[in-house]
Order: sequence, then C-alpha cells, then structure tokens
Amino acid sequence: MKRATLEKRPDEVAAMFDEVAPKYDIVNDVLSLGQTRRWRRLVVEAVGARRGQRVLDLAAGTGTSSEPYADAGIGVVACDFSLGMLTVGKRRRPDIDFVAGDATNLPFADESFDAATISFGLRNVNEPQKALEEMYRVTKPGGTLVIAEFSSPVVPVWRTMYTEYLMRALPPIARKVASNPDAYVYLAESIRAWPDQDGLAAWISAAGWQDVAYRNLSGGIVAIHRAVKPGGTAG
Ligand SMILES: C[S@@+](CC[C@H](N)C(=O)[O-])C[C@H]1O[C@@H](n2cnc3c(N)ncnc32)[C@H](O)[C@@H]1O
Repeated sequence: MKRATLEKRPDEVAAMFDEVAPKYDIVNDVLSLGQTRRWRRLVVEAVGARRGQRVLDLAAGTGTSSEPYADAGIGVVACDFSLGMLTVGKRRRPDIDFVAGDATNLPFADESFDAATISFGLRNVNEPQKALEEMYRVTKPGGTLVIAEFSSPVVPVWRTMYTEYLMRALPPIARKVASNPDAYVYLAESIRAWPDQDGLAAWISAAGWQDVAYRNLSGGIVAIHRAVKPGGTAG
C-alpha cells in the first residue's frame, strides 16, 4: 500500500491517488458523512461560471468536482496528474475533457480560462504557492479563482472534536471502507498541517490575486476561498 508523507513527493502523491481511485468517491461520501455534496454545490455557486465560459478544474481527480459545469453546459477542463484518477473519471464521464498535467507546471496557455478552481487538491500539491501562480497565469484578467479545502474549525470545542475524529475515528472507518486505508492517515495528517483560513488567504494574495475572501462551511471544517485576477472588464 502506498501513501504519501507530509513531504508530498509528487510521485508518491500520484501513486497514492492511483491506488485510491476505484473507491475514491464512495469513501469520500462516507467519511464526510455526506457533506461533500453540499460543499461541492457551494463551490460551483462561488465560481459562478456561465455558458460559453471555460473553467479549469485543477486536481480534478475522477472529475466529480468538474461534473456540475459539464452538466450545466459550461466548458470545463479536468486536469490532474494521477492517471489512475483520470482513467476512472474518463470511463464514467467520457464527455468531459480530462487532461494529464501537474498543477505546478500547467500545460495551458496564458489567460486561457475564465475561472480556475481546485477542490480538495491544493493541500496535496508539493508546492502550493507555485500552483496558485500557475492558476493565475492561465486565468484571464478579471477571471475568478475558487479554492475549496479543509481548514480550521472556528469554535474551539468543535475544533477539538473534529481533531479527535480525524486522528482517532477516521483511520478505523477508512480501514473498513477504503482500498488504501493508509491514504486516510495521510489525509488526517495533511489537514492538520495545512494553513488556516487567513494563512491560505495570504498565500493567494502573494500569488497576485485580488479581493481575496473566504467563507467557512460546516463550522470551518472546509473553507471556500475566492479571489479575482486584476484587470479585465466585468461582463
Ligand atoms: C482529494 S483529490 C480531489 C479530487 C477532486 N477535485 C474532488 O473534489 O473530488 C486530490 C487530487 O489532487 C491531485 N493532485 C495532487 N497533486 C497534484 C499536482 N501537483 N498536479 C495535479 N494534480 C495533483 C491528486 O492526483 C488527486 O486526484
């Protein structure tokens, strides 16, 4: 069984996701106690894309985060570096444009998307600040960035309960339902080591994005950060 460490070596991260790919979506639903569907709907609302626009869904995995755009007739490119995740996605949704690519060196031209979004992916990227710069590069001026990522529960007692869930309850549940339970030890560790809401907002600003704002979901278990690339005209 392969699992990445907090060093997040790209080959180890990709191999780990290759391995979890077949059961990725079902395990997600179980471990999040069904919350992922609501979180995903709010991400799509934050992106606010319209027909005729082109959205980059980075670290798209099996394409679950890309599906709502395709369903709404919006052009979406689902990019990921795990061929295992892409294969599961392409089999399920042959109509979606799946592209193999590394978030830190995107295979897209400058200013080629109206919006760039990444759901539960940035935390796994070896150099997240570089990914934020790459998303900035490929987004048109005036375009939008939306990031959904696990974050820090705001109420201390809730934060304590959640940390207990992550470190104690999640690994045994994962052992029962997941094909690679060790990957869920990595999940718990990587969430704990990830910056809080303001820390991530500072990284986003440092990559050049403006009007950075965030919204907490499920008491801060997840945060959606939104920002805009300067320039361009509204419309
Ligand atoms: C937890 S999954 C999220 C998938 C999907 N966005 C979703 O919401 O279900 C994280 C994904 O990030 C991808 N990933 C991690 N580092 C990456 C990188 N440097 N470049 C591209 N994809 C990466 C992994 O391969 C994995 O598919």
